[in-house]
Amino acid sequence: MKSSSSDTLALHGGSPVVTAAKPHFSWPIIDNRTHMAIARQLDESISLYNRSGMIARVEDRLRAAIGVEHALLTNSGTSALHSMYVACDLGPGDEVICPVYTFFATATPLFFTGAIPVLVDCGSDGNISPAAVEAAITPRTKAIVATHMWGIPCDMEPLVALAERHGLMLLEDTSHAYGATCGGRNVGSFGRAAAQSLQGQKPLTGGEGGVLLTNDAEVYRRGIAVGHYNVRCKQEIPTGHRLHEFAVTGMGLKFRIHPLAAAIVDQQMDCYDEILMGRTRTATRMAEVLGKLPGLTAVLPKPDDTSSWYAFILRVDDEVPGGAGADMIQKALLAEGALEADRPGSTRPLAELPLFRNPGALFPAYRDMISPQPDDFPQATQFHESIIKLPVWNRPEDDPLVDQYLSAFLKVWKHLESGGSL
Ligand SMILES: Cc1ncc(COP(=O)(O)O)c(C=O)c1O
Repeated sequence: MKSSSSDTLALHGGSPVVTAAKPHFSWPIIDNRTHMAIARQLDESISLYNRSGMIARVEDRLRAAIGVEHALLTNSGTSALHSMYVACDLGPGDEVICPVYTFFATATPLFFTGAIPVLVDCGSDGNISPAAVEAAITPRTKAIVATHMWGIPCDMEPLVALAERHGLMLLEDTSHAYGATCGGRNVGSFGRAAAQSLQGQKPLTGGEGGVLLTNDAEVYRRGIAVGHYNVRCKQEIPTGHRLHEFAVTGMGLKFRIHPLAAAIVDQQMDCYDEILMGRTRTATRMAEVLGKLPGLTAVLPKPDDTSSWYAFILRVDDEVPGGAGADMIQKALLAEGALEADRPGSTRPLAELPLFRNPGALFPAYRDMISPQPDDFPQATQFHESIIKLPVWNRPEDDPLVDQYLSAFLKVWKHLESGGSL
């Protein structure tokens, strides 16, 4: 990796550093093995009513991979979260402590249960702050939800301790973090239940899909009743169980995953370890180079933890020479051809979104809910305003492209350190 032959920023008319052909990143990896998996499933079945065939296979693989007793596939991460909240008996008036910095679907299904999402601030890694959780606990609190943002595990030890001390359910949103570990333990195995998106961008994907994970047989059975009516309820909810008489309708929703999506998840799982190894190698290299630039801090897992490397997050702070902010730096990087340098938009502090500011306009039960204000969450606001997000490439053949991206950062910093402005 070299710095650019021309020191003039592309933003100021110089030549861009990144010259690799587009697209620079595409995900998921769809190859001949994916095509074969789909073709096999097409011949076998495209609608499965019960836990059989590809559905049973993927659920068994997922529960073994995470180390929990039960996995229930759903048609999205949002429906897995919805199933989890209903299955955990959350209802009107129950307070559920949620991260303010997460994708909105971590919390939105709560609006269909009557439970109240209580938003709390994050720490410097963007993950829910255990101190903020503790401060938000009231006699009405029933659960804490932790999203492992961008693949970096939350600080689980204090969250587990808080949940135990106050008799609360700990729930996880592992959508970004399949394969990540905290203190040697898989994320998704810490609390009463976890929900995970299997949508197209996610580290483990079926294009669309989700999964509910739990060690609790009652949560699993209620999860089936939420969105898997009739055959699956009849087969998996025992005859004497109080939910059995509702088997024909369940709770009336339909959250079944498409078997073709399950077949893609199955095929992606075959390659997952190798992909994660590749991503970890790239992330280590990116951290080594970018971590040396003043004012730029890579968000990394703690020493006993590992990330899924869903993304590589860099925080821009006041120490950047000349005081350039994340927006200007991204603009300079984009001009250098680093087209994947992103400033996340839809994932933002939830208190900024109309649905959370004024849920009563859409859900009458929430008419009296006190709106959270963005100013209440200074860390999340700062995190959101200061980050640049990069993809984490996994293949050795992407190394020259990674080098070009790193060179783009070095060029921008060289310019700033020599007193230039953006
Ligand atoms: C943290 C998080 N939770 C939940 C979801 C929702 O998943 P889905 O799009 O599969 O419904 C997403 C999707 O982006 C997410 O990022």
